[in-house]
Amino acid sequence: MSIRTTKLKIIKFSKDFLLASRLLQILQPFNNLFGFIYNFNLLTSWVHKNKKANLLTNDFYRPIRHYDDRLKSFVAIADHYQLHDTPVCYLEFGVASGNSFKWWLQQCRHSSSRFYGFDTFEGLPESWGVFNKGDMHSPIPEVNDNRASFYKGIFQDTLNGFLDENGSSIRNTRKLIHMDADLFSATLFALSQLYPFLQKGDIIMFDEFNVYDHEFMAYRLFTECFYINLKPISAQNNFYHAAFEVV
Ligand SMILES: C[S@@+](CC[C@H](N)C(=O)[O-])C[C@H]1O[C@@H](n2cnc3c(N)ncnc32)[C@H](O)[C@@H]1O
Repeated sequence: MSIRTTKLKIIKFSKDFLLASRLLQILQPFNNLFGFIYNFNLLTSWVHKNKKANLLTNDFYRPIRHYDDRLKSFVAIADHYQLHDTPVCYLEFGVASGNSFKWWLQQCRHSSSRFYGFDTFEGLPESWGVFNKGDMHSPIPEVNDNRASFYKGIFQDTLNGFLDENGSSIRNTRKLIHMDADLFSATLFALSQLYPFLQKGDIIMFDEFNVYDHEFMAYRLFTECFYINLKPISAQNNFYHAAFEVV
C-alpha cells in the first residue's frame, strides 16, 4: 500500500470516527475562543507582513486615533492616482448619510465620472459587534449632482441588476470601490459580484479592514478564492482603513 493510500485511510477513519462519536463537541463552548485565536492570528501575521509595504500613507499603533484619519488616505489616493480630473467610476457599498460619498463626489470633478451608492438606507441588515440590525439607518442623501445615483436595498438584491445594466460601461473606467458596509456577508458578496468587472489599476478601499471576522475575513476569502492580487497602497490607524490596487 502506498504512503498516499495509507494517509487517505487514516484521514477517512479519523473523520468518520469524529463525526460518529461527536467527541470534539465537548469543546463546543470554546468555539468562539478558538475562532477568535485562529482568525486574529491570521490578521496579526497579515498586518506585520504588510506594514513594511511601500504605502502612500501609513499610521501604526498611535495611541490617539480618529476615524477621520481615513481622510489622509483619501487625499493621498486622490492625488497619487490623479482622480480629481480624470474619469472615475466610484462605487460605494455602505453609504448611510453619505459622508465619504459626498467627499469623493466633490473631489472627483471630471464630468464623465460616475458615482454609485448602494445601501439599504434602513440600516444594517444584521447585527455587527455592538451595533444592532437597523442601526446606522439614514435616508438617501441629498446631492445636487447628476453624476450620482443611489440603489436602495440589500446589495444581494440590487447589485446584480445594476451590473447587468452598467457592467460594460464601468468595466473600462478606473474603478474606485469603497467597501464600507462593515459586515463580512455584505463585503464578500459585493466583491465576488464585482470580480468579473475588475481591471488592473482599480482601487479597493476598506473602511474597517482590520476587523478580523468581518472585512478582513471577506478580503482574505475573496483573494484566496478568486486568485486575485491586491497590492496594499495605503493604511491608516493600524490598517483600520486600508486601500489596495488591483495588480
Ligand atoms: C458604516 S455605514 C456607512 C458609512 C458611510 N460610508 C460614511 O462614510 O459615512 C454602513 C452602511 O452599510 C449598510 N449595509 C451593510 N450591509 C448592507 C447590505 N448587505 N446591503 C445594503 N447595505 C448594507 C448599512 O445600511 C449602513 O448604512
